[in-house]
Amino acid sequence: MEKIFTVGERPLNGEVALSGRKNATLAILAAALVADSGQNVLSNVPQISDVRVMTEILAGLGVHARFAGKNTLIVDSTGMHSTRAPYELITKMRASFSVLGPILARFGTASVALPGGCDIGARPVDFHLKGLELMGAKIEVEHGFVEASAPNGLHGAKILFDRSSVGATTHLMAAAALAKGTTQILNAAAEPDVVTCAGFINAMGGKVRGAGTRSIEIEGVPSLRGAAFAVETDRIEAGTFAVAAAITGGDVYIRDAVEDHLAPVVLKLEEMGMFVSFDAGGMRVRTVGGRLKAVNIEASPHPGFPTDLQPIFAAALALADGTSVITETVYERRFKYVDELARMGADTKTNGNAAVIHGVERLSGAPTAGTDLRATAALVLAGLAAQGMSEISGVQYLDRGYEDFEAKLQSLGGNVWRAAQPSKEAGASSSDGGSAVPIAQKTSNIPLGS
Ligand code: EPZ
Repeated sequence: MEKIFTVGERPLNGEVALSGRKNATLAILAAALVADSGQNVLSNVPQISDVRVMTEILAGLGVHARFAGKNTLIVDSTGMHSTRAPYELITKMRASFSVLGPILARFGTASVALPGGCDIGARPVDFHLKGLELMGAKIEVEHGFVEASAPNGLHGAKILFDRSSVGATTHLMAAAALAKGTTQILNAAAEPDVVTCAGFINAMGGKVRGAGTRSIEIEGVPSLRGAAFAVETDRIEAGTFAVAAAITGGDVYIRDAVEDHLAPVVLKLEEMGMFVSFDAGGMRVRTVGGRLKAVNIEASPHPGFPTDLQPIFAAALALADGTSVITETVYERRFKYVDELARMGADTKTNGNAAVIHGVERLSGAPTAGTDLRATAALVLAGLAAQGMSEISGVQYLDRGYEDFEAKLQSLGGNVWRAAQPSKEAGASSSDGGSAVPIAQKTSNIPLGS
């Protein structure tokens, strides 16, 4: 299995371009199923494994989804012939569960496997199912599948979520777009992904109002038609590269970062002592000297600090001057990366939904294991700041959500590469006691005298 290798203590400097937003793209690909005519031409779609899995699921339903060029995806659901989404794919990627409502709204019946939980939490889908029932669906769960039926179609409803849910909000927006009558979603999620998904549904002829607020209204229409739509850049990727600058003491220009999506992230970077500025082309994140300052962070639904960036900020705070407290209010167990940072010398303790981080002067390179997408990214950034070499497993998680991650970091001067880990059976050994990196790798990516 491949791993990521880093040699740290080099500041990252230069310019990096962002890819399209993963989470908005996945919501859009599910919502695209409501179009019974025309093609969807989606641009700025990131080439990541979650998107590829989603296109496989769509293909299984009879939907043609293919890339025309690196980041343009054409999705044609006019010929959709199946209403059953396979277990082996749905459980690979939970966002695909959101195909349930669009299939049900269009065909009056749907059978979709229940998604599993994951390393950051149980991640139930009760809000999704309750909303569809309120819109007239009959829902049964049998043998791990949700069997949904609405022979007379879905009708408008007033839906109140007990708590903010991005997936449930985008999922039910898409289903309500074809319902008879008007649907209100109260206590809706307000993340930029919801706004983007609403924009896409409206581009197809839908009538969604209020996306970005906690109360969204969807007026159902008889049919929807494929449209051309551009996915905006990924704010979590922007935050990841901003922290890459902060943790290595660098100066990075992040092209096409959207200021409106990053307010809490910018405020925390500035509190940590970074200089952040925006111009028409993007965002600059520059170290102004000295150690980062400790800050407290509470991860919460938008417009709060995004939970997806809490592991990544934790890596930088591990080196900050002082004690930081990170509180996670979205997921029940999103601190598994803490033990891995401790292997590099971080001094962090977790207590329930909080992590207390006592900043240290230096991290040392070590073998670490990523457990999910953002935790693995955090460990790579920690490796770029640490003394010596680190090897990070969990490449499969990184590839789910970051397009060309190492190449982008390398373009900023980061000493980071991906290599297959020679298996013991192959006789490869780490004769020097370090990581068993092929000799070719050991010479090509490491600065002289490291
Ligand atoms: C989306 O997940 C993102 N994923 C997540 O990003 C992100 O962390 C999350 O929103 C919150 O911003 C995608 O968009 C593909 P939720 P989602 O429904 O929609 C609970 C990443 O790294 N809940 O907003 O699944 C749930 O358990 C990923 O890019 C219910 O209880 O998240 C969680 O505690 C990780 N019942 C909370 O709500 C439900 O029916 C928020 O979940 C639905 C959710």
